[in-house]
Amino acid sequence: MEIVTSTWVEPSSTATALLLLGRGADPSSERGVDCPGALPPPSDPSLVDRAAAAKAALGDRVFILGHHYQRDEVIQFADVTGDSFKLAREAAARPDAEYIVFCGVHFMAESADILTSDAQRVILPDLAAGCSMADMAALSQVETAWETLADLGIADSTVPVTYMNSSADIKGFVGRNGGVVCTSSNAERALRWAFERGRRVLFLPDQHLGRNTAVLKLGFDLADCVLYDPHKPGGGLTPQQLRDARMILWRGHCSVHGRFTRDSVDEVRSRVPGVNVLVHPECRHEVVTAADYVGSTEYIISTIQAAPAGSAWAVGTELNLVRRLAHAHPDKQIMFLDRTVCYCSTMNRIDMPHLVWALEELVAGRVPNQITVDPETARHARAALDQMLALP
Ligand code: 13P
Ligand code: SF4
Repeated sequence: MEIVTSTWVEPSSTATALLLLGRGADPSSERGVDCPGALPPPSDPSLVDRAAAAKAALGDRVFILGHHYQRDEVIQFADVTGDSFKLAREAAARPDAEYIVFCGVHFMAESADILTSDAQRVILPDLAAGCSMADMAALSQVETAWETLADLGIADSTVPVTYMNSSADIKGFVGRNGGVVCTSSNAERALRWAFERGRRVLFLPDQHLGRNTAVLKLGFDLADCVLYDPHKPGGGLTPQQLRDARMILWRGHCSVHGRFTRDSVDEVRSRVPGVNVLVHPECRHEVVTAADYVGSTEYIISTIQAAPAGSAWAVGTELNLVRRLAHAHPDKQIMFLDRTVCYCSTMNRIDMPHLVWALEELVAGRVPNQITVDPETARHARAALDQMLALP
């Protein structure tokens, strides 16, 4: 019998076309770009030794940043771990490191490139480590939204604020239009800053962080917030709704945190009497309002560290961090808020084969997977990032 082999071909770009991670290229997305390297197999038992040897050979020339959602085997090689805000500050504070290896996702590496000098190179071990939330706001869509506001005569009284989890060109747009970047640990300060300058905020791209901060920290009503859908004309809103709004929330969300539900909170409370529910502000509003504590990954870590022995905690954030917290605090009962929520697939793209490959390439004098932002975009994005770093 004749065996017919076939090659899978990426469908042409349609609304439903999916690009397999690590195959081909999709420049309009943070994800789905080819990793050019010949990677060692994940089963290679010498990966840890190889990473350690390459890091030692590079010495002070390399500085490795690790986001809290990274895998254990990767995080052990980080010189500094942190949330998005801390990592942005750490990148800016390392002018002597020739190479910044970013174990995190694409938008974080872009921000590091913007905040470091031209002589420094920022490396993302796997280019497919993007962020689905960042992909939910494209520059052309945001420019269309801004034109809508300009046509209504309200762009001048609107301040754009973008979450760190956005591409460099969105940060550039915000910088060009007098706005600021924020992270989950300074969103309240960023919004207060913005409301001193305008009547309303266009908040990109995470509707949940925007809504939760506006309502729970600044005291706005849910009715003050409208949801702008970039796939509908005028965002699916009437001119009057846009004029009246104090918060225009972009219709974006995190694919991980968006999956926690109010039922997850109710279920864990009935199963574990006295449990404390601690969630990230990227969770839905009904989850955050049902929780006991809300904050960034750094806040989650410090809250658990300060908790008394014997206390019980259900944590609604990425699983790698929750697992590490559970191992680090065996005297406390630490559990994941929902049994069905998965790891962040793009954070998990950074694994030992990619880290070893990237470090060994540097040792060999080649710079792999360098992340660069074009100078014009970087100049404007830097204004919005510097404004964030200078927030009172
Ligand atoms: P923080 O590290 O700022 O809390 O953000 C969480 C996150 O989703 C990063 O992708
Ligand atoms: Fe993006 Fe959510 Fe993953 Fe963070 S956890 S990188 S916001 S998809």
